[in-house]
Amino acid sequence: MAKAKYVLALDQGTTGTHVSILDTRLQVVGRSYKELPQHFPKPSWVEHDLIDIWNTSEWCIARALKDAGLTGRDIAVVGITNQRETTGLWDRETSEPLARAIVWQDRRTADICQRLKAQGVEPRVREVTGLVLDPYFSGTKLTWLFQHLKGAKKRAERGDVCFGTMDSWLVHKLTGGVAHVTDVSNASRTLLMDLRTLNWDDELCSLLGVPRACLPEIRGNAEVYGTTRGMRSLPDGILVAGMAGDQQAALFGQACFEPGESKCTYGTGAFLLMNTGTQPVRSTAGLLTTVAWKLGNTTNYALEGSSFIAGAAVQWLRDGLKVIKKAPDVEALAASVKDSGDVVFVPALAGLGAPHWRPEARGLFAGIDRSTTVAHLARATLEGVALQIHDLAEAMRKDSGRNIPVFKADGGAAANNLLMQYQADLLGVPVVRPRNLETTSLGAAFLGGLGAGVWTSPDAIRRAWKADKTFKPKMKPEVRARHLEKWKQAVSRA
Ligand code: G3P
Repeated sequence: MAKAKYVLALDQGTTGTHVSILDTRLQVVGRSYKELPQHFPKPSWVEHDLIDIWNTSEWCIARALKDAGLTGRDIAVVGITNQRETTGLWDRETSEPLARAIVWQDRRTADICQRLKAQGVEPRVREVTGLVLDPYFSGTKLTWLFQHLKGAKKRAERGDVCFGTMDSWLVHKLTGGVAHVTDVSNASRTLLMDLRTLNWDDELCSLLGVPRACLPEIRGNAEVYGTTRGMRSLPDGILVAGMAGDQQAALFGQACFEPGESKCTYGTGAFLLMNTGTQPVRSTAGLLTTVAWKLGNTTNYALEGSSFIAGAAVQWLRDGLKVIKKAPDVEALAASVKDSGDVVFVPALAGLGAPHWRPEARGLFAGIDRSTTVAHLARATLEGVALQIHDLAEAMRKDSGRNIPVFKADGGAAANNLLMQYQADLLGVPVVRPRNLETTSLGAAFLGGLGAGVWTSPDAIRRAWKADKTFKPKMKPEVRARHLEKWKQAVSRA
């Protein structure tokens, strides 16, 4: 590495943006965070402003440098990780967004998915992409944008418009509008990429009405995509050299390099991923097959269970119901009662994801009576998050033919001890929480460093991974069975 010694990880998540600056021993020396404005123009619609995303990123970079006592010249490389599937369109020449980005949680394309299913194309879509026809993915969001933005399709056909998920948007802006690229992990969430060839699939582009000319170039996860240009927070010429979707970056940051190794990240949603090695494993239990990462010429795949609401449910208790002031307060409130008083919460606040795939489902509190208090609701909310993950782990056991031996947890909500203990109780296996909960940023930093030659193999990340706390299952089997039965009933009514 040249004189600059630090790696900057830009983690652009759904709720907000984190920037971490790490030294070559993977120690965090500076960090920053800013929440991102959310737009809910209609029920079940969720949008982000691309300009907000960029401005927040610039702000966070400047703030993290200040926190670390460094200047931009100390940064050797920028690695990126991002909320996946969120879909943006911008003008290739001016970088001007054509509209607000449609966020992964947005359900507006449920009828487009329904129509495609009625045409009988889902089995083919599954085979090529490893995904299901659900509004979650970028493909039908693009269909919608091209149907609704006047003139956009013609401009895209002429090559004047760029499509990108947030990785793509950020590299484009970091490089002063030069690069239009994505990486295999993000591309594997679009409904447009063939899992085996790792290229855009013409048949799917035409099925979804997406002009090929607007798609970014698909690249590996640790390579140089360009250099910074024209930024406020960093000087020109810094390498941008590693990126992955946030869940894949967390799998990397949790050092899940061997087949069977798994992690669950409790962020806005909660996502359970298992590394399945160099072969894609097809799911019959409602999970997704996805690319984990491509390093050099080797591609690793993963099975994924995606549940759309985790930390977002706590946020809803804070902002919607106003029963807590700060998100971490939920733990004390939930712990103030000995159980949920038979209240069950199904967190279908953005439909239900894996393994149910019911975009029309709505959230539900079941079992309320006059003795129910906000503390019971808070406890049931945390339990609902963990119960969803239990279903995903079950599906993963069926698909992979193996039990998850150790369940590695991370993400902001993994700091909640009550949630982690309940998760271990439901799964019947130990839940291990690492010291550094920001495994997503760690993964991005490491991919950036690998791409720039700071590190040459993933061994350093294995060495840097340290457990903080292990939650051992304690619940009696009959109690667990009762919880699961009540959950099953509530899910069927959601
Ligand atoms: O697929 C959506 C996922 O990438 C969002 O992650 O951390 O923003 O909940 P997060």
